[in-house]
Amino acid sequence: MANVDDVSRQGARFDRMMALLDRYLLASREWVVSRASGDVLEVAVGTGLNLAYYRDDVRLTALELDPGMLDVAAVKAAAADRPATMLVGDGQCLPFADASFDSVVCTFSLCGFPDHEQGIREMVRVLRPGGRLLLADHVVSTNPVLRGGQRVLEAVTVPLSDEHFTRRPLMVVERMPVAVVESDRLHHGIVERVHARRG
Ligand SMILES: C[S@@+](CC[C@H](N)C(=O)[O-])C[C@H]1O[C@@H](n2cnc3c(N)ncnc32)[C@H](O)[C@@H]1O
Repeated sequence: MANVDDVSRQGARFDRMMALLDRYLLASREWVVSRASGDVLEVAVGTGLNLAYYRDDVRLTALELDPGMLDVAAVKAAAADRPATMLVGDGQCLPFADASFDSVVCTFSLCGFPDHEQGIREMVRVLRPGGRLLLADHVVSTNPVLRGGQRVLEAVTVPLSDEHFTRRPLMVVERMPVAVVESDRLHHGIVERVHARRG
């Protein structure tokens, strides 16, 4: 495992960027993570910015595509004395049996999945009956001016880095075998939070 001085440059850069954005995103991290319980899978954990918000009694598994980001998360988990099983993997093809988890968390990451529908399908597959799917992401704005800006931005970011600004994961969740318990939108509709339960 890397030590604190050995974090990837990408991870350190990501944390600096998120420190600015977390003025807007922090409340959503707490909203999502506070609803997780039991055996929890966090998909695309990044540098572990959600780790601080988990209840002490959750048994956490964290998956991330980028090993450098996962190293940073592992350092944070160790520093916070938050035991977690961490593994490198693709959220679109989860290496777990069906019905393995009580809660699946994913924040600000489905926007970057090549196939976010497949990612959500996998999250639902690994949930136990009654398990909670907990998502927060940036989505297409309810404001037409901002929406126009997002479309322009996306014309560049999708070919460049697969970063989408006009997705609505909730619409995909509604096609899955789950019931939406709560969902809301903040900041001109740009941030959307979803809590759904597996039937
Ligand atoms: C914007 S970061 C968000 C990280 C973290 N969830 C958070 O809220 O701070 C997006 C993360 O998703 C990861 N990611 C992108 N595609 C992925 C995939 N297919 N499977 C797993 N992780 C993925 C990236 O490597 C990156 O760490």
